[in-house]
Order: sequence, then C-alpha cells, then structure tokens
Amino acid sequence: MPVLETPPLVHETVVSDRREPFSDIVIIGLYAPKIAREARPGQFVMAVTPSGERVATALGIYEAAGDRISLMLVVVGPRTRELALLERGDRLVLAGPLGNGFQLQALGKNVALIAGGVGLASLLLPAQRLLADGARVHLYYGARTAGALVDAELFEAAGAGVSLATDDGSRGHHGYVTELLAREGRTHETIAACGPSPMLRAVGTLARTLGVRAQVSLEETFACGVGACWGCVVPLERSSAQAPAFPPVAPGETRDYVHARICKEGPVFWSDELRW
Ligand SMILES: Cc1cc2nc3c(=O)[nH]c(=O)nc-3n(C[C@H](O)[C@H](O)[C@H](O)COP(=O)(O)OP(=O)(O)OC[C@H]3O[C@@H](n4cnc5c(N)ncnc54)[C@H](O)[C@@H]3O)c2cc1C
Ligand code: FES
Repeated sequence: MPVLETPPLVHETVVSDRREPFSDIVIIGLYAPKIAREARPGQFVMAVTPSGERVATALGIYEAAGDRISLMLVVVGPRTRELALLERGDRLVLAGPLGNGFQLQALGKNVALIAGGVGLASLLLPAQRLLADGARVHLYYGARTAGALVDAELFEAAGAGVSLATDDGSRGHHGYVTELLAREGRTHETIAACGPSPMLRAVGTLARTLGVRAQVSLEETFACGVGACWGCVVPLERSSAQAPAFPPVAPGETRDYVHARICKEGPVFWSDELRW
C-alpha cells in the first residue's frame, strides 16, 4: 500500500518582531521556518485570528528569509485589527503557503511592478527574485497619502527603481499609479501587479494599450482559502493554462470561459485571460 504524503499546511508560528510604519499599517515578523523555506513569490497564507472567533484571513507573504517570514497588515476590519495587536512572543496559526504565485520566468528581464496600497505585500519577494536573476525591475507604488507609502526603500535596496504616487498629492505623482506608468513613458517587457480590483482592471487596460502582458494578483474575500468552497471564482478563458478541469464540460456546452478559483488556480492570472 503506497503511503500518500502531502506536506502539512498548518503551522504554529511565533511573532519575532513588530513595527508600525504608519497608523493602521503593521508589519509582523514570524518565526516560521517551513513557510520561509517553501514560499514562492506571490503566494499567501490564511491567518487564524488568535481569538478563533472569526474565519481565517488571507495575507500575502511579504518577506521570507532564513527562519523568518513577515506579513503586512492594513487594518480595515475586525480580523486585521485583531492580528495587528499581536506582540513579540505571541503565537499565530497559519495555513500555507497557498496559491500559485507569480510566473517569474514568463515576466522576462525588464519588469514593471505596480502596487496599490497593501498590494505591495505580494510584490517584494517577486522583486527580490527577479533582481537576483538579473532582471531590471521598476516599482510603481501608489497609496492614499505620503505616510502610507511604506517600505519603498526595501525595493531600492534590492536594486529596483521606484516611482511613487498618492491620491492626495502629498508625495510623488498626484493621481493614480497607472497614470504614473503611462506618464513616465518607460518601456517594460511585462507588468506584475497587486492591489484593489479597480486598479488591476486599469492595469489590464494599460497593458493592452502598451502592447505588453500583465500578471495580476487578485484581491477577494476568501472563505476557505484552499479551493474547497468555490466562493471566490472569476471568469477565465477556457484556453488558459490555469483553467480548472473541474467541473467537466457538459454535453452541448459552448461557453469559452470557465470559473477559476482565485485562491486555488490564482491569485495570480494573466490579465488578458480574465473575463471581467
Ligand atoms: C490573496 C490575498 C492576499 C491579501 N494580502 C493581504 C495583506 O498582505 N495584508 C492585508 O492587510 N490584507 C490582505 N488581503 C486582504 C484581506 O484578506 C482582507 O482585507 C480581509 O477581508 C480583512 O479582514 P477584516 O476582518 O479585517 O476586514 P473585513 O471586515 O473583511 O473588511 C472590512 C472592510 O474592508 C473591505 N474589504 C475587505 N476586503 C477587501 C478587499 N480585498 N479589497 C477591498 N476592500 C476590502 C470590506 O468591504 C469592508 O468594508 C489579501 C487578500 C487576498 C485575497
Ligand atoms: S475561498 Fe473557498 S474556494 Fe476560494
């Protein structure tokens, strides 16, 4: 009888450090050797709130090195508020790493990264890996105000160029981060983006205009986060390599799109394969 082994996904981690670079933005470092070892750029974890009263929350894996990972929390509701109160020494149960992450090889050697707000959390590992592999990387980073533009210097330290935008004009370009890329006129081979849905749709349109392809990491409120409930689907071209084989094509079925689970087949998709 063969022994079927699947890697354990649930890990008890311990908070090793905490910083708050701006009000309601908290970065917690965690002792999590297995996740740090296995995480691919753009993957996420499901974090179980310590009270256990709420469903788990999806969070991008921000940093991963040695035995440590970090998570960036932007406090928007009860779960992120509870997680942001964690202190050094507290325990946190995480499931992960989950999702597909970015297809870095397909991004090529001259990549624009576009981050909106907390979307930055899913782009540091891709930037570091692309730069280590010899690619040129430029980060276009937008937030609501100057103080909320946190950690751009980590990208600069890794060797990326950085351009900034704010909604209120308090730092960098006054307006949307997608306008900034169009305005600066730099040319890139591909785009990788993470942020709120309206920004990602604008990235898709911009990529089409520029004649380049874009990988977008979609944000959605997950229930299970592991592909079980089908509560997070997005229409995707049937011809996409990421299209799920389930449910099978019904006789007489003519639709050229399928529903893909953002948490399982994604969260990263090619924007030109999404039907949104
Ligand atoms: C793959 C993935 C990675 C993520 N990474 C991070 C991360 O690194 N850091 C982080 O802080 N958050 C991240 N998120 C978002 C986070 O999971 C949600 O914001 C979560 O719902 C927060 O729970 P809450 O109880 O604090 O707020 P909720 O009560 O769920 O929401 C509070 C308010 O925020 C709004 N809201 C909730 N989720 C979203 C969303 N996704 N986009 C826009 N508005 C929303 C709600 O409409 C509501 O008004 C990620 C989400 C996904 C899918
Ligand atoms: S949240 Fe359950 S399948 Fe995605």
